[in-house]
Amino acid sequence: MAAERKLCLSGKGVTKVFGLGRNKTVAVDNVDFNFYEGEVISLVGESGSGKTTLAKMLLGLINPTEGEIYFQGEKRDLSSHRKKKEYWKSIQAIFQDPFSSFNIFNKIDTVLLDCIRMRGGGGLPYEQKVAMMTEACSFVNLKFAELTNKYPFELSGGQQQRLMIARIFLLKPKILLADEPTSMIDACSRATILDMLMQLRDEIGMTPIFITHDIGLAYYVSDTVYIMEKGKFVESGSADEVILRPKGAYTKRLINDVPKIYEEWDLSTV
Ligand SMILES: Nc1ncnc2c1ncn2[C@@H]1O[C@H](COP(=O)(O)OP(=O)(O)OP(=O)(O)O)[C@@H](O)[C@H]1O
Ligand SMILES: [Mg+2]
Repeated sequence: MAAERKLCLSGKGVTKVFGLGRNKTVAVDNVDFNFYEGEVISLVGESGSGKTTLAKMLLGLINPTEGEIYFQGEKRDLSSHRKKKEYWKSIQAIFQDPFSSFNIFNKIDTVLLDCIRMRGGGGLPYEQKVAMMTEACSFVNLKFAELTNKYPFELSGGQQQRLMIARIFLLKPKILLADEPTSMIDACSRATILDMLMQLRDEIGMTPIFITHDIGLAYYVSDTVYIMEKGKFVESGSADEVILRPKGAYTKRLINDVPKIYEEWDLSTV
């Protein structure tokens, strides 16, 4: 199986430095990674370890100070606006705060119509677009007919989060970066959101990358885990390998920070 795995995103020596001189922060420090199509990946680390900075570089929102990012094995080229737009058809993100993802002046149907246009469906008959939007909304248990004239800020936090996933349903990206997408909601909606994302992974062949400080969540959802400390990857491997048999003290501490979820965790340090 290993021989057939296709690379979707990879990086060599990826580094991001903010500021200069004494104000210098090395947010991401010389990381190498290979993310394969179809596997569920988690980047786990404590606050300030560089997760969001790395996510922004993966998305092409900020440039690495050093190093290279490869998309499907080829050096990524985002030198023009057109190339960026093309790239963003393949990679999308949902963030901690759903509200920040929406343009507040756009009504919900505009938000969803934009997704259809991005996928090249701008010229479709309106009825067909409505059918697509209705399907996307019902996938996330929202009723499109009740939303058409509303603005995203008129929805509850949980509904906004589901609307974000309806966008992903329409955009069908190859890679989805999910930066703490469930941090604002209760455990039950959280499980629903995760289920929806995993279902999308199966239905549209999307590779999800979860970014979280919650190592329990990472264990629950992922095939491969990267542990991030002060901008570096300190451990990586299969979820079982990294989380059930952690090597480093930092990984063990992250595990200890989580209340006991899995009985098989037998950590002498508890
Ligand atoms: N635009 C910026 N300018 C200067 N420093 C920054 C900038 N963005 C991030 N940093 C710094 O880079 C480091 C990593 O930040 P980052 O947001 O990537 O952490 P994180 O792992 O996502 O944390 P959290 O779990 O709290 O979201 C921090 O020290 C932060 O202060
Ligand atoms: Mg962050």
